[in-house]
Amino acid sequence: MVPIGVLVSGRGSNLEAILDAVDKKYILKGDVRVVISNKPGVGALDIARKHHVQCVVLDDKGVRKLDAEYDRKTMATLESHGVTPKDGLIALAGYFRILSPQFVEKYHNRIMNVHPALLPSFPGLDAQKRALEHGVKIAGATIHFVAKEVDAGPIILQGHVPVRDDDTVDTLSERILREEHRLYPEAIRLFTEGRLRIEGRRVMLAV
Ligand code: GRF
Repeated sequence: MVPIGVLVSGRGSNLEAILDAVDKKYILKGDVRVVISNKPGVGALDIARKHHVQCVVLDDKGVRKLDAEYDRKTMATLESHGVTPKDGLIALAGYFRILSPQFVEKYHNRIMNVHPALLPSFPGLDAQKRALEHGVKIAGATIHFVAKEVDAGPIILQGHVPVRDDDTVDTLSERILREEHRLYPEAIRLFTEGRLRIEGRRVMLAV
């Protein structure tokens, strides 16, 4: 079993997709050991509790956006729940902090993130809004490994959706979110089954 830690900051719909996939045994070889939120009182914590998963709040009020000391606490919490750099997996699911280089190095190619755009287009915040404003015809979601540069690590899976003429940021975000919920459990399943091979920037899928 791969011990999984999920880091969240908000609503938690991707967390729910992951936990549902574990419950339904779509993810058979992974086990969510802990959900860590940097914000108290968020929806993701209710979702974790509903699924009887341990949750920890490490309130980052007043902490800088990139802070190695704060990240050390997060890593200690992960390790104390068995999510180790040797055999664990960390899934960022709407986690609105930037990880320190020390964190990324320690869990090298063991941290995944979901981004609501077809990277390398539209990295960073408000990706759906910027895609819409740019006039792209195809948008989508990306699951990638986390590298030191934001939204720049090796791409694991991508899914595309059409952009419609009458789309608003909300309708486009909703369509992309459905792809996120499909892709994230799939990426975790592949990882936990040892079916991802990383060569440089490329992630190969073993069938
Ligand atoms: C998602 O759109 C994800 O792509 C982005 O933050 C949002 C998180 O949503 N990184 P949720 O908390 O998983 O519902």
